[in-house]
Amino acid sequence: MTSFTVTAQTDDAVRISEVRHWTDRLFSFSVERPASFRFRSGEFIMLGLLDERGKPLLRAYSIASPSWDEQLGFYSIKVPDGPLTSRLQNIQIGDFIIMRKKPVGTLVLDALIPGKRIYMIATGTGIAPFASLIRDPELYEKYEQVILIHTCRDIAELAYGKELVETMKENPLIGESALKQLRYLPSTTREDSEITGRATDLIRNGELFSLLSVAPFSPEQDRVMICGSMAMNTDMKEICEEFGLVEGANSQPGHYVVEKAFVG
Ligand code: A2P
Repeated sequence: MTSFTVTAQTDDAVRISEVRHWTDRLFSFSVERPASFRFRSGEFIMLGLLDERGKPLLRAYSIASPSWDEQLGFYSIKVPDGPLTSRLQNIQIGDFIIMRKKPVGTLVLDALIPGKRIYMIATGTGIAPFASLIRDPELYEKYEQVILIHTCRDIAELAYGKELVETMKENPLIGESALKQLRYLPSTTREDSEITGRATDLIRNGELFSLLSVAPFSPEQDRVMICGSMAMNTDMKEICEEFGLVEGANSQPGHYVVEKAFVG
């Protein structure tokens, strides 16, 4: 064992309980949830490994599991020469990683003014916070309709989201009525699929609203949560503002909220 391996004795060590590789660019993993750890659906925490000098090398990761689960789930990109993910992608069940127990973030229901319909717009691993939120029963009490839009490069990269939505049907905590409130719209940009095109383009050209048979975004009834690459976030913010939506925060709820998906 090298000196920089995280062990059960390392500060804030948590044990890996599951690892799944979805594509050569994407993997997910779970850790055993520390007994006293609480978070709000949609929040992120800092996690990682020790670097070659024994110092914590941590990155922000959205918690992708529901707040009632015994495991804490995460969804990650593999960056070939990324300081953290090039090593994190090799973790195995039983290994330890570091997880700081301070959940934070703006992709929370508290940062939004109540509304009728909520859109969750993600690219790539930006679906992670929504994987937590869409399994939160409170979401379906607060909103009549929940629309999850996930844009990826190709169909293989949609697998995580597809399985997530599929397994919700077997979840006793998510009632049948909640499932009727949820619409899942996966789209691809570099391979043809049922819905081809970036979420931003589908909104700009109106295709999204015709697919859903609803009126375009309105500050009166629609709320938007955005999580993806910097470029997507910037474009989506611009679109939201064009429709008259105002950005929210924990301290001042608004019509939309945005957070950068983890990269690196
Ligand atoms: P595209 O294939 O046109 O670049 P990545 O895996 O590189 O993070 O990308 C995930 C998805 O996000 C891709 O489908 C990509 O589309 C899309 N994307 C990239 N930039 C934007 C943007 N500014 N607005 C909307 N979608 C974007």
